[in-house]
Order: sequence, then structure tokens, then C-alpha cells
Amino acid sequence: MRKLIFGLFIAILPAFALAAGGAGVPMDHIETDHTNKESLQRGVALFSNYCQGCHSTEYARYKRVAEDLEIPLDLYTDNLIFTGAKIGELMKNSMSKDMAAGWFGAPPPDLTLEARLRGESWVYSYLRGFYKDESRPLGVNNVVFPNVGMPHVLVGLQGLCAVEPHIGVAPSVEPLSGNINNADACPEYALEGSMTPAEFDQAMYDLTNFLSYMADPVKVERERLGIFVLIFVAIFFVFAYLLNREYWKDVH
Ligand code: HEC
Repeated sequence: MRKLIFGLFIAILPAFALAAGGAGVPMDHIETDHTNKESLQRGVALFSNYCQGCHSTEYARYKRVAEDLEIPLDLYTDNLIFTGAKIGELMKNSMSKDMAAGWFGAPPPDLTLEARLRGESWVYSYLRGFYKDESRPLGVNNVVFPNVGMPHVLVGLQGLCAVEPHIGVAPSVEPLSGNINNADACPEYALEGSMTPAEFDQAMYDLTNFLSYMADPVKVERERLGIFVLIFVAIFFVFAYLLNREYWKDVH
């Protein structure tokens, strides 16, 4: 009995490890949706324009991404590949890790599996977590990743939050005045961006959705196949049951 309990404990240990991931940092939770192709297309456009210069996703190929996201190959090549790479190549970039470490304090990591490493909600919150902090070398800090080396590359879209944004705080309605508190994570901007807070949140959802697809490109297919496997198992059960009854018929 003790062995059994110990075995069960070992079996559920990984669940605890997952639950502990990102513990302690504030997060806004999202559910990604890999069947939403429009969102993924907007996400890859943002990623190619704003992130890929520093971050590779070198375990994926452009062609696979274009096909999965239903983007015509020539459109993808003309508009989303800036390195002159061929459509069949891996999504690398030419940033030298050593030099980048000198510039930013840490090299920009490859992001192919980032959404699995940190979780989607973490990535979504991190991208919305930058704020003005003059004590940092690049003038910005992040509530989800304190003292991060990455610059706030989306400042033109989001603007620059003057104070720490309220990540992980749900909006609430003041009962007397009817005012909504925390509808926007950032209460006060030091610089205005070109997007409204709602548009920026949607854009970061799309970008996170894309990184989530990147980390698990077969998710939709796997879930589709899973249904057939379960139907097969259910039908097979009937025959296995009948056969079993036949075999044991004469045994008393
Ligand atoms: C100018 C270069 C640069 C650009 C452009 C850039 N990043 Fe970064 N990023 C970095 C650096 C450097 C780090 C490592 C920071 C550290 O470890 O302190 C980083 C870290 C990250 C991390 C956290 C990695 C971890 O440790 O788990 C994520 C997620 C990330 N970047 C996403 C993005 C996304 C999405 C974009 C596009 C909107 C982007 N980055 C654009 C330089 C960049």
C-alpha cells in the first residue's frame, strides 16, 4: 500500500512543477486558439516585424509556418522574410549571441519553445508589462521580468507606461460612482502609442497566440486525431467485450 501511495505521489510530481512555473509574478490569463488563423497571421506579422531581428525561432521553417497559417508562399517571402532567406530555410537570424550579450546584458533567447517554457499567460503578461524606469540602462523595466535586458520594442504601438502597470489585477466597478478601475493595465502614460490599450492587448494576444502555435504546431491536428482514436477505442471495446464473453463462456 505504501509503495502504491509513493508511486502515485511520484506520478503527480510533474503537475506540481508545472503549477509552480512563474509563481510569484503577476499574470493576466489568456486561452490561446490555434484554429483562429486570422489571429495567428496578425501574430506572425508582428513577430517578423518587431521581434525576429533579435529573436530566432530556429527550430521552425518559414514554409511550414506559411502553410499552417494559410499564407501564400510568395506573399510570405515578399513581406515577412527580411534576411533574404529562402522559404524552405530555418527561421534563424544573424545576430551574434556574444555581441548581443554585450549590448543587452543577456543574449535574446530563441523563442521557438518559449510559450511552453514560460506559459502563454506569462508571455502575454510580459509583453504588456513594460514601464518607464530611469534607473535601468535602457530606461525601462518590466513587472513580470524585473530588470529585463530587452528594450521596450513596442513602445511605438503601446506607448510607455509611466508607472508599474497593473498586471494580474482584474477590472472592478466602483459601486457608488460606476467608474471602472483597472480597465486598462496602465493607468498613466509617459508617452502615447499609436494603438489604444484595447488594440494593443489584442495585438499582444495575437503575438502570444502565434508563439504558442510555434511551440506546438501540431496541436490542432493532434486534437482532431484524438477524437478518432477515442471513437476507435469505443468501437473496439464492443468487439473485445464480445470476444471476452465468448472465451469465458464455458469456464465456471
Ligand atoms: C533589440 C533586440 C530585441 C528585440 C527586437 C526583441 N527582444 Fe525579446 N529579448 C531581448 C533580450 C536581450 C532578451 C533577454 C533579456 C534578459 O534575459 O534579461 C529578451 C527576452 C525576451 C523574452 C523572455 C525570454 C526568457 O527569458 O524567457 C521574451 C518572451 C521576448 N524577449 C519576446 C520578444 C518578443 C515577442 C519580441 C517582439 C515584440 C521581442 N522579444 C523583441 C531582445 C530583444
